[in-house]
Amino acid sequence: MRILMVCLGNICRSPMAEGILRKKSLEAEKKWIIDSAGTSNYHTGEAPDIRAIQKAAKYDTDISGLRARQFETSDFDKFDLILAMDENNYNDILNKARNEFEEEKVRMILNFSRPGKNLNVPDPYYGGDAGFEEVYKL
Ligand code: 4NP
Repeated sequence: MRILMVCLGNICRSPMAEGILRKKSLEAEKKWIIDSAGTSNYHTGEAPDIRAIQKAAKYDTDISGLRARQFETSDFDKFDLILAMDENNYNDILNKARNEFEEEKVRMILNFSRPGKNLNVPDPYYGGDAGFEEVYKL
């Protein structure tokens, strides 16, 4: 299974989601391929936001080595599941899909824990620590 986490900047939500899933896959001894990307290029090449690094570290997840990159159409060839953090990410990714098979790979991440509700993982970038805590928990 190849899974790609996607948010806007690839420095807050999707790196945290990538780190969490990497940890879970190790614990479950799964050989999943896991990555993350942003729909924007605002932070390409940057490490995750220090607040995201510190929040993940609090829960024994090291995401400090990750680097931001932009989502690209070829990601549809490289991944089986593309998990959007919010509805803007979801629509931006879907707009790049070339066919129904690729559209089918794109899901709202919280629909796995709260089926059918299309809930967003809120963007924590302009908020405080509580937002990052909420993102990690979600
Ligand atoms: P992310 O958060 O999408 O969870 O990585 C953001 C990071 C940067 C910006 C917005 C959201 N920005 O506008 O630069």
